[in-house]
Amino acid sequence: MALSLLLGAFAIVILVAYNIYQKLRFRLPPGPRPWPVVGNLYHIKPVRFRCFAEWAQSYGPILSVWFGPTQNVIVSTSELAKQVLKDKDSQLADRRRSRSSEKFSRGGKDLIWADYGPHYVKVRKLCTLQLFSAKRLEALRPIREDEVTSMVESIYKDCNHPENKGKALVMRKYLGAVAFNNITRLAFGKRFVNSDGQMDEQGLEFKAIIANGNKIGASLGMAMHIPWLHWMFPKFATELQKHEARRNRLTKAIMEEHGLARRRTGGAKHHFVDALFTLQDQYELSEDTIIGLLWDMIVAGMDTTAISVEWAMAELIKNPRVQQKAQEELDRVIGPDRLMTESDFPNLPYLQHVAKEALRLHPPTPLMLPHRANANVKIGGYDVPKDSSVNVNVWAIGRDPDVWKSPLEFRPERFMEEDVDMKGHDFRLLPFGAGRRVCPGAQLAINLVTSMLGHLLHQFSWAPPNGLSPEEIDMEEAPGQVTYMRTPLLTVPVPRLPPHLYKRVAVDM
Ligand code: HEM
Repeated sequence: MALSLLLGAFAIVILVAYNIYQKLRFRLPPGPRPWPVVGNLYHIKPVRFRCFAEWAQSYGPILSVWFGPTQNVIVSTSELAKQVLKDKDSQLADRRRSRSSEKFSRGGKDLIWADYGPHYVKVRKLCTLQLFSAKRLEALRPIREDEVTSMVESIYKDCNHPENKGKALVMRKYLGAVAFNNITRLAFGKRFVNSDGQMDEQGLEFKAIIANGNKIGASLGMAMHIPWLHWMFPKFATELQKHEARRNRLTKAIMEEHGLARRRTGGAKHHFVDALFTLQDQYELSEDTIIGLLWDMIVAGMDTTAISVEWAMAELIKNPRVQQKAQEELDRVIGPDRLMTESDFPNLPYLQHVAKEALRLHPPTPLMLPHRANANVKIGGYDVPKDSSVNVNVWAIGRDPDVWKSPLEFRPERFMEEDVDMKGHDFRLLPFGAGRRVCPGAQLAINLVTSMLGHLLHQFSWAPPNGLSPEEIDMEEAPGQVTYMRTPLLTVPVPRLPPHLYKRVAVDM
């Protein structure tokens, strides 16, 4: 015990001395004064990006925030984002892996948590040329249309149920189902929910694993962020171990089933798991990499799409003028006798601007993912030492009055006045990041979000629950790595089209 205390005290002295040395050696970005050992871990408010935006008001647009011994640099203007994601991209393209992401990605053997290097380049190429090619996106389109029409069918059934007449529905339930079914079918070729909406055991296990992973990943505790104190938290290590084992067990079982089905029916289909099996030798993919990639898609592609649509719907209910204008466009282009499809998008510019405006005000990953410096870098005139984490506060940039007129207003028309790219070419609007690590699923996400919004608006009108005025909708965010609404959106749908247009268009693929 005495020896442990002595070693602990010694480590603290070394750390404090190291921090003083860093301060003298470098001109670090300003920020709240860190405490010894824990840094700013206990200063950070639960909704981190809001907290960092507030601090940026006091300390300036480039901040230092200490997670234990790790320096995090957070930038909050488009000019600084450009420096991080374009000018200094090659020095800032590694990833900061927390204790949990280190464990679950087996030290970066996947894509999301891989450092920039030969493995990353290989896997990213596989994603660009194979998993997210225009051809595959098109081949997987029937799955998206199946899931979106299935959502519309359940909303229609639920709002017409005699017990529910005029009652508000919890939007997230329906959006979450599309996102879950779409991503599990796309990745694993499997729908865990039957046509009555019942989820099988594997599906329930899947959901439980995702929820547990999110809980572990959001931790701001010492067990996660202070490596030399890990020994004090053996329970956390066991929790990580159990989670990983559970995740691998389920993934292997699903992959085996899929392999058997593939051999029975002959030939590969279009799901990611087929592509990965088929390309395993050509790209020299280990089992860790295949499992890691499949989970990357689930983790990165599921909540983000549901969140985007929930926020967009909240804005459309708060702004009936915008809702009506989008519906007028849909009525003019599609009419009352058929359903919208993705091929209608080019004729629906206002709908596309609605999706973009929602992603400007409510980016689902407001701090993007943490990048890591592979060398000492200068950003905004400050030193960012090697190994620091760098985050871009895209939420703050999307609301910056210096680059947006009336930034807090939900006004899709702004994109008719000026066409602003959102896939990494314009540093004012970065929901998908930019540069080497830009989101590879951006086009898939845009298609799914626009399709969900288009169907919801064409097929229903949306109002707040009885007794609640649009202004009273809670627009605050819940804490977490992705930004759900703090209060799940409740809304009353009223169908707008003939009953035969509310049937699911099911496909078996
Ligand atoms: C609205 C939905 C989505 C948003 C807002 C979003 C946003 C982002 C952001 C901000 C990043 C980090 C960029 C960076 O670190 O510089 C990212 C990375 C990533 N996203 Fe998305 N994403 C979405 C949907 C998807 C979907 C549907 C998929 C796949 C099915 C996906 C797969 C990935 C992957 C694999 C990465 C890691 C890329 C890398 O590290 O190289 N995302 N996404």
